[in-house]
Amino acid sequence: RPVGDLSGHSVLVTAGATQEALDPVRFLTNHSSGKMGYAIANAAYLRGADVTLIAAPNTQKAFEGIKIVNVISAQDMFDAVMENAENADMIIKAAAVADFRPAEYQDQKIKKAGKDSICLPLASNPDILQALGDRFGGKKMIAGFCMETENLLENAQKKLKKKNADFIVANNLTNAGAGFGTDTNVVTILSKDGKTEALPCMSKDAVANALLDRLIRAL
Ligand code: C5P
Repeated sequence: RPVGDLSGHSVLVTAGATQEALDPVRFLTNHSSGKMGYAIANAAYLRGADVTLIAAPNTQKAFEGIKIVNVISAQDMFDAVMENAENADMIIKAAAVADFRPAEYQDQKIKKAGKDSICLPLASNPDILQALGDRFGGKKMIAGFCMETENLLENAQKKLKKKNADFIVANNLTNAGAGFGTDTNVVTILSKDGKTEALPCMSKDAVANALLDRLIRAL
């Protein structure tokens, strides 16, 4: 088991893209690969932390010493996070959680016969980061992500305050070297104490370590 500056700390990470089922064969999801979240979990492990990873579906690999809890939907992730949060002193929410789910799950496959179009009512999912901030803000180090296609820093700043987080890692999807499935990321880290740090294009591993550096310093 690795020893490092996070030895003795317990880190909870979420990663992957939640899947929201419509019927037994279909679901709503998004393009998140899980790479950023796995990079954080693996980096924390190598620095000595006790790591729990709440994983929505993805194809990434984590070190064997990491405790993985597999989940499918946002509601599953909410339950698993709340069950595991108490033990953690740092929580990093890198998962791409679906904001909405089909309002009603259909037990049988939805048939197309005779329909030109259908309406799919959606219901709001619980906001996990918000629930964590409400419950543990100021008591544990909490970091969230913010991916936007416009007004990135403005939205990130709002999120930091509203969700009572210590850090928001903001990335603009339209930036070269940022986004889904890439091995690099271009992020700006905003902190509760008012700092805004724009980092250059870096590997997701380097972004993970940069974030962990800030969390450990703030703890
Ligand atoms: O509000 P928005 O989805 O842009 O915020 C992104 C951050 O909030 C991410 O850290 C994401 O993991 C988290 N989130 C969450 N639960 C949701 C939606 C987003 O924890 N239902």
